[in-house]
Amino acid sequence: MAPPDIPAAKRAGLPVDIERLATEGDGWLTPEERYALKTYGVCAQEQEHVFMVRVRVPGGVLPTEQARAVARLGRRDGSDWLHLTTRQNLELHWVEDVRVPRLLADLQRAGLSTRSACGHTMRNVMSSEDAGVALDEPFDCLPDARAVSDALLARSAELNSSMPSRINIAFGGSPRCREDALINDAGFVSVVIDGEAGYELWAGGSLGKAPSLSVQLSPFVRRADVLAAAEALVDVFVAHGSFDTPAKGRMKFVVSALGPAVFRAAWDQAFAAARARPHPEPVAVGVLGAGDRVAILERIPTGGWSVGVRPQRTPGLASVTIDIPLGDTNASELNLIADLADRYGDGHLVLGRDQDVILRNVAVEAVEAIRAAIAPRGLTFLGEGHAARVRACTGSAVCALGVSAAPDAGRSLLSSAGLARNTSLRVHVSGCPNSCAQHQAGDVGLAGTKVRIGGRVRTGYHVFLGAALDEPRVGEVVGRVADEDVVAATDAIVGLWEALRRGHERLGDTVARIGHDAFAAHLEAVMADRWASGPEPDAVPAPAFTP
Ligand code: HEM
Ligand code: SF4
Repeated sequence: MAPPDIPAAKRAGLPVDIERLATEGDGWLTPEERYALKTYGVCAQEQEHVFMVRVRVPGGVLPTEQARAVARLGRRDGSDWLHLTTRQNLELHWVEDVRVPRLLADLQRAGLSTRSACGHTMRNVMSSEDAGVALDEPFDCLPDARAVSDALLARSAELNSSMPSRINIAFGGSPRCREDALINDAGFVSVVIDGEAGYELWAGGSLGKAPSLSVQLSPFVRRADVLAAAEALVDVFVAHGSFDTPAKGRMKFVVSALGPAVFRAAWDQAFAAARARPHPEPVAVGVLGAGDRVAILERIPTGGWSVGVRPQRTPGLASVTIDIPLGDTNASELNLIADLADRYGDGHLVLGRDQDVILRNVAVEAVEAIRAAIAPRGLTFLGEGHAARVRACTGSAVCALGVSAAPDAGRSLLSSAGLARNTSLRVHVSGCPNSCAQHQAGDVGLAGTKVRIGGRVRTGYHVFLGAALDEPRVGEVVGRVADEDVVAATDAIVGLWEALRRGHERLGDTVARIGHDAFAAHLEAVMADRWASGPEPDAVPAPAFTP
C-alpha cells in the first residue's frame, strides 16, 4: 500500500469511520484513513487485517479493576499477549479489524483511553514510578502529569491535525528522571527551591534516527504554571515545526533550526501569553522532607533492600518491582499481580519505564508473601532472577517498520554469561533505527538493520556503545553483527569492559576512555568474519521512514 500523505490527512481533519471496521473489515481504508486510525491508538501490524491497539496509562498508574479489564480484553481480542512499553503504555496485538470498535468501546467503558496513543499526537505522559514515595523524589508529580495529560488530550482533535509530529512528555525528579528529560520532547524535572515545589523544564530531546538531547528552557516553573508551560511548548511547536515534512517534524528539529536561544525566547513569549489565560489550581501535594532515614532503614523486609525491593519514605513501607522479561505478559499474570496489589499494596499497579510492574505501599512484612506468590509463575523481583536487564520493542514479527526480530535477540541475551555476571547492565534492542527501545541510551544498544557481513546480506544489528546520559552522552555505533551473533558480541564487549574497567567505572565510561575504535578492534579480533566495524555503508538500504 502507498504511504499516507500525512500532512494532507491532517489538513482534512483526520476523518475515519471506525465503526465501519466492525461490519466491513479494513479493506476500504485509504492510507490516510489508516494514518487517522493511529490517532485513536489503532496501529497497523506487519500482517494484514490485524492491528496493535495501544492503551494510554497516564503516569503508568493502573487501578487493579482496570488491569483486570485489560487482561480480560487482551485475552478476548489480543491473543492473550499484553506488551508493556517503555513509555508506560499497554499494547494489545493481533486484534482483528472487525473486533476493533467493540474493543475500543469496552476499554473506554473501563475508563481507559487509546486516544492519541500513536501518530503525531501528545503521547502518554510519563511520571516517575516512585513519585511521592521514594527517597529521591522531592514531591508527588503525578497530579501535574495527569493535569497536563488531561488538558492536552481534551484538545486531541485540534492538536492531532496541527502538530507537526508527536510530543513525548515526562515528569519526575530522580536522577533517572533527569536522564529521561533529556530524551523526551518535554521533560519536567521535579525540584524544590526555597521550599516551593516546581519543575526545571527541558525540551527538544529524542533519540530515533537523529538523536538529540534536550535544552533547558527554564530552571523553575511553578506548579501553578505547569499547564501554561506545556501549552506554550505546544504553541511554539505548532508555530515553528515542519508540518509538511514529517520526517523532520519532531521538536528537536525546531530547536536546531531556531537555535536554543531563539527557541527559548519563543517559548518565553508563548509562556507569558499562556499564563495570562485562566488555569485550574494544581492539586495540593506536600513537599517531602528528607525523611527519618534511620527509622526507614531499620525496618527490613525478608531478603533485605535491593533494586527490586526499595524503601519508601514512610517507615515500614516498600515498593517492589516485578520483573516482566521484555515487557511481555498475559491475562493470568496481570490478574495475579492485580490480586497481589489489592491484598498487599494500594490497589494500583504502576507500569515502569523498564517494562516492569511496581507495587507500592507494601508493608515490609508482606514482601515475602508477594515473592512467594509470583515464584510459581517463574516471576521474580527485579535483580533476583539473575536475568539480564534487556528491553526490546516488538520488532519485525509484528511491527510494519521492523527489520529485525528484536524480542528474539532480547530472549537470546537473557542467556548471556557476561550479562548474567553484571545484572546492572542494560541492553536496549530496537528492531529498526526508529529507536523505540532507545538503543542509544542502553549500556549496550542494538538497532535492527540489514547488515553485510562476510560478503552476505542478512538481518542483524548496529551495535551502540558509550552511552551515559548523565554526562550527557548517547551511545554511538561501533559495528554490526548478524542476528545469531548478538550474544557472542555482547559477551566480548562485557569481557573487555571487565578486563579494563577502573574500579566501579561504568561500561559507557570505559568505552569513552578507551575509545570506540579499541572496542571495535577487539570485537574484530574475537568475532573474525562475524563482525564488521563501523556503520553499515549506505549500499544496504535503510527502511523507509513512515512515521
Ligand atoms: C507498531 C509498533 C510501533 C511502531 C510502528 C512505532 C513507530 C515508531 C517510530 C516511527 C518512532 C520514531 C519517531 C521519531 O523519531 O520521530 C518511534 C519512536 C518511539 N517508540 Fe515506537 N513504534 C512502535 C512500537 C513501540 C513500542 C512497542 C515501544 C516500547 C516498547 C515504543 C516506544 C517508542 C519510543 C520510546 C519512541 C521514542 C524514541 C525517541 O525518539 O527517543 N514504540 N516509534
Ligand atoms: S524500533 Fe522499529 S521495529 Fe521496533 S517498534 Fe519501533 S518502529 Fe517497530
